[in-house]
Amino acid sequence: MNVLVTGGCGYIGSHAALRLLEDGHAVTVVDDLTRGHKQVIEILKPLGDVRFVQDDLGRGDPIAHVMRQRSIDLVMHFGALAYVGESVEQPLRYYRKNTASSLGLLEAMEEAGVSKIVFSSTCATYGKPPKRYVPIPESCPQKPINPYGRSKLMVEQMLLDHAHAKKQRDETFACTMLRYFNVAGSDRKGRIGEDHDPETHLIPIALEVALGQRPHITIFGTDYDTEDGTCIRDYVHVEDLIDAHIEAMQQLDANELHTFNVGIGRGYSVREVIDAAATVTGKKIKVIEGDRRPGDPPTLFNNPKRINSELGWEAKIADLETIIDSAWQWRKQNPHGYG
Ligand code: UFG
Repeated sequence: MNVLVTGGCGYIGSHAALRLLEDGHAVTVVDDLTRGHKQVIEILKPLGDVRFVQDDLGRGDPIAHVMRQRSIDLVMHFGALAYVGESVEQPLRYYRKNTASSLGLLEAMEEAGVSKIVFSSTCATYGKPPKRYVPIPESCPQKPINPYGRSKLMVEQMLLDHAHAKKQRDETFACTMLRYFNVAGSDRKGRIGEDHDPETHLIPIALEVALGQRPHITIFGTDYDTEDGTCIRDYVHVEDLIDAHIEAMQQLDANELHTFNVGIGRGYSVREVIDAAATVTGKKIKVIEGDRRPGDPPTLFNNPKRINSELGWEAKIADLETIIDSAWQWRKQNPHGYG
């Protein structure tokens, strides 16, 4: 297939582009390089037919032109900002980059006659689910508690409205929305990895402490209503997450609409993650107990029933240490990320 990958120079998008190329698909990466790394394209080039376009998705016309030129069959839409804390401080930036840019992308698809999309949504759209909804099924009410979650929920709503209107007009539009839990780890062949600037995610920060690049890690809140008082999250390996995209792409038929949560179905606390990082790296990781971070829900983990039964997807890597080890191997080889 001819696949357009938005945000293909970013962490998750680059793993998708790599896998698509390995599977023999032609890939067009669109990335504005706000946070992506152009070096990724050089790594991808020897793997197959990849073309890079540096542009902003919000500018519909040039993107439609690229779609026509490359005869795009399907869009995988990763391009977004994804820091909960930053979204609380700079909400407009999130509505611009996540919501408005997705509108531009949909308009470009409409103009170019591209009718299939796999959209990266997030379990942050669930907000702080009532206890009876944890583990979280797709039917959990969506009440995001931060602008990041709201910026993504708006895109889900846009996709649903657009799909409905297309159906009324007997036109084709098919979409799978994947609501990710916490994505972690990296390509186990060590070719690409996770490199954010600024870095705010738990596992990479723990690894930076292990590398001696930071003096300590701060636990954001130790007074949550959880077993050890720290937040619980569901960590899914990035390669498993990409498997879910490949399945979604292959199984998506005309006029279908699907929503799946992607998470392994088990939660780990912040303390458990830091302990596992210390075990994997063999280094002491100094911890400071700090205040809660605004916008953080206490417990989020998936109920994977729907994705297991309907998409036939199951996480192959459910073990936290294996997930952290893949991130560690890349980071050890690339202590300053892509440089
Ligand atoms: N945490 C710390 N110290 C740190 C960094 C993180 O205690 O230095 C804690 C956070 O407070 C949170 C947990 O570790 O409880 C995980 O935090 P991350 O920043 O790694 O990830 P988030 O859960 O905030 O967000 C991630 C993605 C979002 C996605 C969300 C879904 O960044 O895009 O998972 O759960 F929506």
